[in-house]
Amino acid sequence: MSRTPAHLRLGVNIDHVATIRNARGGTHPDPVKAALLAAKAGADGITAHLREDRRHIRDEDIATLMAALTVPLNLEMAATQEMLGIALRHRPHAACIVPEKREERTTEGGLDAAGQIDALHPIVDALGKAGVRVSLFIEPDAAQIEAAMRLGAPVVELHTGRYAHLEGSERAEELRRLADAAALAAKNGIEPHAGHGLTFDNVGPVAAIPQIAELNIGHFLIGEAIFGGLESSIREMRRQMDLAR
Ligand code: PXP
Repeated sequence: MSRTPAHLRLGVNIDHVATIRNARGGTHPDPVKAALLAAKAGADGITAHLREDRRHIRDEDIATLMAALTVPLNLEMAATQEMLGIALRHRPHAACIVPEKREERTTEGGLDAAGQIDALHPIVDALGKAGVRVSLFIEPDAAQIEAAMRLGAPVVELHTGRYAHLEGSERAEELRRLADAAALAAKNGIEPHAGHGLTFDNVGPVAAIPQIAELNIGHFLIGEAIFGGLESSIREMRRQMDLAR
């Protein structure tokens, strides 16, 4: 994942290929096949969220991805002992710690790192010692970035869900919060990433924030693949990101 510093990396989240597979059981469509195709289409990395209820990605998907991928795997995980054990067993390139509520449809809101420093500390520490690059999925908020600094996390992923859902001046205000948070993180030696709810229509302004090094995008790309294929949806996202940079 090292190209010129201006290169904005694209992590493709393949969870929803597994959602479709699981709707009927069996093995089709195969998220690992999608991950390999995504890498061929220009994804710099693959992201997969192993949820507590295994509603999309399953344990065996993580093992197969680790064996098959030639690009880095970013494992999204809740801060639990079960997930820590799995991450330490597989040692993916990166682990992004996300808040997880069983009843939510998707990851709603960022991790309250500031309110959970003591609980997160041993998890961030153990992952870091195992050589896994830890990221915290947080709201674009100075208190959360300060918490990431206290925790020694090398990366934060800024939650763009609010930005994606707002409109007009409220969206512009949220974009400013994202830009300020990215600048604050970078100034303090933390690499800012961003993701959630990004589409062809809204990715540009986020991609233009110069400190942001990586975007993680899933649902829209997999949905768009229904109409034009996965390679085409990823290549178009790549093009939109490069245009904005
Ligand atoms: N980043 C994180 C940490 C996430 O939890 C998700 C959703 O799983 C994404 C990025 C991708 O969001 P979306 O599927 O809306 O593109």
